[in-house]
Amino acid sequence: MITLIKDILSQKPEGQEVTVCGWVRTKRETKNLIFMQVNDGSCLASIQLTFDRDKGIDAETEKALSKITTGASVRAVGTLIASPGSGQALEVAAKTITVYGEASAETYPLQKKRHSFEFLREIAHLRARTNTFGAVARMRNQMAFAVHNFFQERGFQYVHTPLITASDCEGAGEMFQVTTLDMQEMVRKALRDKMDPATYTLDYKQDFFDKAAYLTVSGQLEIETYATALSRVYTFGPTFRAENSNTTRHLSEFWMIEPEMSFFELEDNMELAESFVVYLLKWALTHCRADLEFFNAQIKPGLIEMLEHVVQTPFTRITYTEAVKELEKRSDAFEFKPYWGCDLQSEHEKYLTEEVFKGPVIVTDYPKEIKAFYMKQNADGKTVRAMDVLVPGLGEIIGGSEREDNLAALEKRMTELGLDMKNYWWYLDLRRYGTVPHSGFGLGFERLLLYVTGMANIRDVIPYPRTPKSAEF
Ligand code: 4AD
Ligand code: MG
Repeated sequence: MITLIKDILSQKPEGQEVTVCGWVRTKRETKNLIFMQVNDGSCLASIQLTFDRDKGIDAETEKALSKITTGASVRAVGTLIASPGSGQALEVAAKTITVYGEASAETYPLQKKRHSFEFLREIAHLRARTNTFGAVARMRNQMAFAVHNFFQERGFQYVHTPLITASDCEGAGEMFQVTTLDMQEMVRKALRDKMDPATYTLDYKQDFFDKAAYLTVSGQLEIETYATALSRVYTFGPTFRAENSNTTRHLSEFWMIEPEMSFFELEDNMELAESFVVYLLKWALTHCRADLEFFNAQIKPGLIEMLEHVVQTPFTRITYTEAVKELEKRSDAFEFKPYWGCDLQSEHEKYLTEEVFKGPVIVTDYPKEIKAFYMKQNADGKTVRAMDVLVPGLGEIIGGSEREDNLAALEKRMTELGLDMKNYWWYLDLRRYGTVPHSGFGLGFERLLLYVTGMANIRDVIPYPRTPKSAEF
């Protein structure tokens, strides 16, 4: 059984024999001593191996040592001792080492101590071998685990919603199409048949699903069907958006956590969202301490303090109308002038959370024109029971709402928006049979990771980012 480096490092050094497997980070040599830092990604820290020629090194091991450069994969055996050197508490007085795979010093790209994140994005298949991306990967794992814990502790059932769908949840038309039609051939045939371009339409009856199908932008519509059977459910999976936003906060493929609760009204939804965010940040503060301290020191000074502050600060609740009033007081300060009816821009979210309320803010009751069709309409005829959770230093982390549970009101709104009711018959059935008040929200998993790691670009908190014009690997 191979012991992970994190488990070796938590042992008491009593001269016990240990086997270390991992990738060499650095190798340094004096006349008689060879020092090596080996990392296996199980924790941030590397383990130090020390070879002492005065104590004798066998010929096999000398041969192996001569082949080792940064990046080589190795297996070493030695004894665990208290380190006489500074910088580490423990080290391995190594006796033997074997090399699984060399890494040519001429071509292996990870030679320097620090590489730019832009460069590392081009070698995303190797970047998890750096301190920063190893820490991001461990943090991602921990936060996913925390998500499940939070919901499982509260009686929620995890439901797997489909990735291929025929309905546009957000109604924004930002979906990637899924088809097996041969586009090239369709065009050729249309030209051969001298079709009239004004009337020609693709025949989806010939397509794989017998109709136009897409990658989902959100699992919400499907998760609602399970909420009206199991009461409290959540989905956690990849979602896809073909929006052309080249920002540091948008991905074309991102993971979203979407809880949906029957019998919850907007106030209950806000309460759950607040406790969810606090739970996740507390988890990061306690379960990911070593990595968090690394981010705090190397990536974003003040990160830990900021997270602690958010955890301790009750989330302010304001309506969209109040928020716009606040913003209008400082209209001159914004590039995008705020007015009632505008979508809140990130400069506005920043101002509300960082300047006005100095903490997280939940904005509710947005104008219906800027929100999706499924949100519950208020009696004023102008606003809907929407809620966005905004956090200082990031902006929107959660979007959600109470859902329209009245069949006539929902049909009216869908008609106004020109949605094709045929595609949503099953969604409308939920309002037709045993309808209940219900609410839910979506938390962008990579937005959360940006927040807890202090990383600046969302491309650096997912293993293989997909963004406009970029889908390498
Ligand atoms: O506000 P959104 O669009 O809400 C929904 O999709 C709802 N159907 C959720 C629900 O009520 N079940 O997206 C939810 C969250 C945002 O607040 C943001 O954190 C994240 O998903 N998000 C993105 N993250 C990365 N890249 C993108 N392009 C994102 N778009 C949204
Ligand atoms: Mg949103």
